[in-house]
Amino acid sequence: MSEKTTLRSHTCGSISSSSVGKQITLCGWVRRHRDLGHLIFIDLWDRYGSIQLAFTPNSEAHKKASSLKFESTVQATGILQKREKANPHILNGDLELAVESITLFSGSEPLPFELNQKSDTVSEEVRLKYRYLDIRRGKLLENLKMRHKATLSARNFLSKKDFLEIQTPLLSKSSPEGARDYLVPSRIYPGSFYALPQSPQIFKQLLMVGGCDRYFQIAPCFRDEDLRSDRQPEFSQIDIEMSFASREDLFTLAEELVQSVFKETLELDIPQTFERITYAQSMERFGTDKPDMRFGMELQDLSGTLGHCESAIFQKALESGGIIKGIVVPGGSSLSRKDIDRLTELAKGFGLGGLAWVKKEAEGLKSPLLKFFDAPIQDELSALIENEGILLIGAGQKAPVYQAFDHLRRLIAQEKDLIPQGVYRFLWVIDFPMFEWDAAQERYYAMHHPFTAPLKSDIGEPPTTMRSSGYDLVINGYEVAGGSERIYDSVLQQKVFQMLGILEEEAEDKFGYLLKALKLGAPPHLGIAFGLERLVMLLVKTDHIRDVIAFPKTTKAADLMMQAPSSISINQLNELGIAIK
Ligand code: AMO
Repeated sequence: MSEKTTLRSHTCGSISSSSVGKQITLCGWVRRHRDLGHLIFIDLWDRYGSIQLAFTPNSEAHKKASSLKFESTVQATGILQKREKANPHILNGDLELAVESITLFSGSEPLPFELNQKSDTVSEEVRLKYRYLDIRRGKLLENLKMRHKATLSARNFLSKKDFLEIQTPLLSKSSPEGARDYLVPSRIYPGSFYALPQSPQIFKQLLMVGGCDRYFQIAPCFRDEDLRSDRQPEFSQIDIEMSFASREDLFTLAEELVQSVFKETLELDIPQTFERITYAQSMERFGTDKPDMRFGMELQDLSGTLGHCESAIFQKALESGGIIKGIVVPGGSSLSRKDIDRLTELAKGFGLGGLAWVKKEAEGLKSPLLKFFDAPIQDELSALIENEGILLIGAGQKAPVYQAFDHLRRLIAQEKDLIPQGVYRFLWVIDFPMFEWDAAQERYYAMHHPFTAPLKSDIGEPPTTMRSSGYDLVINGYEVAGGSERIYDSVLQQKVFQMLGILEEEAEDKFGYLLKALKLGAPPHLGIAFGLERLVMLLVKTDHIRDVIAFPKTTKAADLMMQAPSSISINQLNELGIAIK
């Protein structure tokens, strides 16, 4: 038994009725304490389970037990026996240890929160400040176990497929991947900075040039970006790169990897191959490139139906190059004026002028705009809306219309309980645009990253319509992984840098080493990186990334336990040649 040590013969989880009558020694925490005067019962807890300790009157152990505080750590030796009153709801609820001797390792002051308390009754700040106690409560520990299992499964799978686990540096050079870098000042080169990697992207490509053929790493990544419930400044990727392979090879590999992880963690068989959708189709149908496919309510294109109706709003939207979209909410005819006003306000928040609506009730269609819809339009609308449904309609420029309906679709599905639980939908999103135009900066950005190859068929196309070889894996509305085929020709790489407004000199300065490597025998290569935390979030069914990280940051990027970031001494600053403004 691996948990046996010189301090304990068993763990609270490894005892069983086969040891009844035997002397055993356990170590753990005092979780519950019931002092009935003559009899004392304590629930002893460790990572593996818990067990009742029973103390009979007038013993030395009984005397000690009466003064034990909650969450003290102890060692207890005694005879395992059957409990008089069994608790059928817990593991080993029919057993107890009749304690002969007990040793206190370490006491505990009064706790900042009860560990038996439900987590939502304790403030997030307090839980983060005492993260180790929150972990000891058990639920987070379960999540960390799942993270361990998933990581191990991925590691074993990739190793079996001949991938080498190779560590790449954390002190590295600033590389553009969309977010701000976390910078580390250099003492030896005052005024110079390392950057913590946003991902090991360039290193893994150089490993391919180095002939490694197949690489992976559970890679720490750092991004100074706005945080959300599925984003932390410090996170981990299951980072993968392979040479001499096609996108189909990579999809098969990634699908098998995900199958292996789901099988070995949840014992779940998932589809052999995942659905695919193009970026353009995904935007049209869901208003987002990471659609949650577990429910319907897809966006309907109403430009044809409503473009010629009498209402000026719709005509104006189309004339200015916009679109008209809608979603049908099942059972939505019961939405009140107030409900619709709230949804309208939300839509306005995304820049829409408002929301129009059409209800389909037993008596027929109902809408404030009905007078603008002639009989053929009404027929078309009626065919679209199911009985007792409501069609919510928005018009305007593409981006705000998509954003608004993506948000409304997810919100309404959640509020109306339309999302089936315990279901996973796996989706490849492919054919992303190569470039994104940033109107404020008046320049193009790489939609994935600057090392992503354009689709072969699109080389020569204008930047506005060129598609890339990038792909994302989306599970239940989360972007769980992203990757691409890479540019392995230095001339093409130079051209892409140019498109991104990176001048030749700057490209040489920032990426000269990569451009040189691409001239020294670069194999065709491609790869993908899974957000490890996002994958584990799905496995443990949480919407909060902090639930799967041992010591997470707040949404303001602070560590409340250590109080990081913190100021540093003048001496440290002087050594680095840095003055604070
Ligand atoms: P990308 O930027 O798409 O690609 O990142 C890959 C995956 O990492 C996860 N992820 C995050 N998870 C938590 N917090 C964050 N702040 C965060 N940012 C990203 C997501 C995402 O899908 N080098 C490329 C991969 C490649 O091309 O091979 C890259 O990093 O799940």
